[in-house]
Amino acid sequence: MELANLQYELSDSIATVTVNRPKALNALNRATLDELESVIAQAAADDSVRVLIFTGAGEKAFVAGADIKELSALSPLEAARHAAMGQAIFGRLEAMGKPSIAAINGFALGGGLELAMACTLRIAADTARMGLPEITLGLIPGFAGTQRLPRLIGQGRALQLVLTGEMIKADRAEAMGLVNEVVDAASLMDRARELAGKLTGFSAATLGLAEATVREGAEMAFDQACALEAARFGVAFATNDAAEGMGAFMEKRKAEFKGL
Ligand code: CAA
Repeated sequence: MELANLQYELSDSIATVTVNRPKALNALNRATLDELESVIAQAAADDSVRVLIFTGAGEKAFVAGADIKELSALSPLEAARHAAMGQAIFGRLEAMGKPSIAAINGFALGGGLELAMACTLRIAADTARMGLPEITLGLIPGFAGTQRLPRLIGQGRALQLVLTGEMIKADRAEAMGLVNEVVDAASLMDRARELAGKLTGFSAATLGLAEATVREGAEMAFDQACALEAARFGVAFATNDAAEGMGAFMEKRKAEFKGL
């Protein structure tokens, strides 16, 4: 696949996707969104990809949002379609069945924070800044920010960020639970790869089951979610990896998971 706005690199079963429009602070124009859609589909279908890392080119920005120059030309109907398209792409990332890590190396604003929130985990450089500044443009978030942010940090805090458009620093984002970890900017990618490498050591099948059960259960009543968990617990037992994991524990050796 020819990529003009992204870099895609696969090594040690970890696919690193770098949004590469540094002159526009990696803003997501339509072409970049189309490439993201292709790359997510390709990584989902490629068994050699176990974990994805998303980051931004340059030191300044992860992704500074949707491309405002493009947005400004949209009609109301086109804007609604554009939002639905972005939501669908990020939804496929979230539901792809493989863990993803946002390595937030700078500004993660609007659509950029929405991309990070669709990832499984978020690690931020101590220099990163995050927010949903759409209100300052006379807009509201459109790539599911109004929905994922309250689910991650609670409605009160989400409303403050959505209604004020204020940018927060990485340490505050960590205190709110918006990011999992904050690290030195210089060690961000090493830490992201270390975490991705840890995940590649587990069963791909059970990683997918675990994430899907957390995410799907969060949208259900508690009793239904527990029934889902019990059923999925049974599915985990149907994998060879469960026999391998429990067997390895009892034999006091390291498990060798095959992802089946
Ligand atoms: N879209 C298009 N271009 C952008 C951009 C964006 N979201 N963010 C930055 N750029 C461009 C700037 O226009 C500028 O280009 P030129 O050099 O050609 O003028 C270049 O990137 C560098 O940006 P600045 O000069 O503004 O850099 P700065 O250091 O002064 O400020 C910033 C950095 C605070 C992040 C500022 O660029 C900014 O506020 N960007 C916009 C952030 C934003 O509002 N994002 C939300 C977009 S709407 C959205 O995402 C909707 C949705 O939910 C889908």
